[in-house]
Amino acid sequence: MEISLVDESVMRSRWDDVEDALRRAFAGSHFNDEGYTVDNPINYTRSVVEGRLGPGFKHLLALDDAGSVIGGFFCIQTELKGSTTAHDIGWIFAVPEIDRPMRREMIDTFMQRAFATLREAGFRRIESNMGTRAGGASLSRHYGFVHSPVPGNDNRWVKEL
Ligand SMILES: CC(C)(COP(=O)(O)OP(=O)(O)OC[C@H]1O[C@@H](n2cnc3c(N)ncnc32)[C@H](O)[C@@H]1OP(=O)(O)O)[C@@H](O)C(=O)NCCC(=O)NCCS
Repeated sequence: MEISLVDESVMRSRWDDVEDALRRAFAGSHFNDEGYTVDNPINYTRSVVEGRLGPGFKHLLALDDAGSVIGGFFCIQTELKGSTTAHDIGWIFAVPEIDRPMRREMIDTFMQRAFATLREAGFRRIESNMGTRAGGASLSRHYGFVHSPVPGNDNRWVKEL
């Protein structure tokens, strides 16, 4: 397994494989936000990769030994914008075919590298909606994310960096 922090040009060059992996990973997901489907991670990631949400995003992409896409942590901001030091994370996933030890190693690597990248950029905390139930279970159990609802948003999660 090889995990690299890549820019939008790499994501564009592998887009069909990325979309296919996202579709398989999120196919059976229970989404937290009403009306969300597998199209949400695909469309959000595509809009970032096409530059529609501005510059400064990078993506952790995991490939197996044959070069197939087996997971990702997409849409990590690498530059502070304006005065906010809170970061809204994108989508994290592993494809369903890999076993749990490999998945855990992958997600651990994603989280440590993403946290380091965000800290280096000057972010102090992550404040984000949590896409799925599995994401909430994993990120609260292993990585210190705290469910912190506010009026108008029951699905707010916070992680101090
Ligand atoms: C979210 C994900 C990366 C977590 O992987 P992980 O850190 O290795 O997770 P863990 O093995 O510690 O399991 C955490 C919980 O998620 C569940 N889970 C793990 N993989 C799952 C999957 N593919 N689909 C549904 N639930 C899953 C586990 O059973 C566990 O639930 P429990 O607390 O009720 O027992 C992985 O589940 C995944 O890729 N899921 C599909 C995409 C997704 O939901 N991404 C999160 C977006 S916020």
